[in-house]
Amino acid sequence: VIAKKTTAKAPDSVRAGETAYRTLFDKAPIGIVVADAAGRIHDVNETACRVLGYTKEELAALTVWDITHPDDRSAFTILWGEVVERRRAGYSIEKRYLRKDGSAVWVTITTTPMTGPDGGFLYGIGMFQDISDRIRQEQRMRKAEGEIRKDHEELSHVTRVATMSELASSLAHEINQPLTAILSNAQAALRFLKAARPDLEEIRDTLKDIVSEDQRAAKVIKELRDLMKKEEPHLEPLNMSRVIEQVLLFLRSDCIIRGVTVISDLSADLPPVYGSRVQLQQVIINLINNACEAMKDAVPAEKMLTIRALKKDPKNIVVEIADCGQGLKKGMTEKIFEPFFTTKLKGLGMGLAISRSIIAAHGGTLTAFNNPDKGATVSFTLPAEGAKP
Ligand SMILES: Nc1ncnc2c1ncn2[C@@H]1O[C@H](COP(=O)(O)OP(=O)(O)OP(=O)(O)O)[C@@H](O)[C@H]1O
Ligand SMILES: [Mg+2]
Repeated sequence: VIAKKTTAKAPDSVRAGETAYRTLFDKAPIGIVVADAAGRIHDVNETACRVLGYTKEELAALTVWDITHPDDRSAFTILWGEVVERRRAGYSIEKRYLRKDGSAVWVTITTTPMTGPDGGFLYGIGMFQDISDRIRQEQRMRKAEGEIRKDHEELSHVTRVATMSELASSLAHEINQPLTAILSNAQAALRFLKAARPDLEEIRDTLKDIVSEDQRAAKVIKELRDLMKKEEPHLEPLNMSRVIEQVLLFLRSDCIIRGVTVISDLSADLPPVYGSRVQLQQVIINLINNACEAMKDAVPAEKMLTIRALKKDPKNIVVEIADCGQGLKKGMTEKIFEPFFTTKLKGLGMGLAISRSIIAAHGGTLTAFNNPDKGATVSFTLPAEGAKP
């Protein structure tokens, strides 16, 4: 990808376009690393060099494993292998990179494969943002919060959401999703420009998408502010992928502290559901907490949580939270929904009972089952808007 084969006589407009996109690549506020199947680094932009403390030339001699923090290597190896073998479309995770000086830097990274005409893997494109400042700030806040909370172990889940939404003020700048979309659009435009005769119309459309993603970023901030107002929950049409993204913003530091890698697979074109944002967020928080707790004793590389949201059929959507934890004991798939049923020392046994009643009030169903290999999946359906509860 870096290997710039300057074609003998490209038209000026094409060369100008290539320069424009090379500039966009280099100056993008997000780090970009392009690597082949073996993880050898083929191209990096300036932000990546700055964050990692290496020069371009130094990075070209390394692999993505060399720059991955030892504690994150095994989880990364699994995900990367799945992308290379085209068993996974891509992934978004938080991980630590290793700087040249040996220090760790937290990043949020989205990896997408670039495929050849036959659909085979050519390169993996990783786009990342340095989030160390935010993580430090969150950890400080956590600590302060932990001290205040010590006497309030029994804090109800609903109150916990309120505390989370207070955290939102520190996360207001979190606009990672749209930034990632902006970058993948920019990447697409770069690909279009590689054509012998680039389709300017297509490139214009891609640029328009970039503009609208930018506007979406502004909306994310507004929504986070709205969320903090703690208004009475009211019913509204909701995009569950967006609702889940918001929850993941709040739970990110929780997951990091617990060593859990969160993989999200959220459909971009879900039909809206009609419901209470706060209550549905509550359900997702409960399920993620359970999944993390179930993986407490798992080996680090296996602490993976996958959250999916997709259209089940024309009338329903489905959300699944799958973990690699201890799984459900035989015959427990219904019992766990009973109020006050818990296997945890400090559990109340109310998380699933509350969640099931919220989902039922929304006209859906909540069920749990063991995965064929390891761990459990808890899944709920919700009727697409039209079937108002
Ligand atoms: N993902 C999971 N994997 C394995 N077991 C689970 C999972 N989710 C729930 N369980 C089991 O179901 C029980 C009930 O879960 P529930 O969320 O209702 O209560 P809890 O987590 O024990 O306490 P809390 O009220 O604090 O949530 C748990 O104690 C656990 O044994
Ligand atoms: Mg629970």
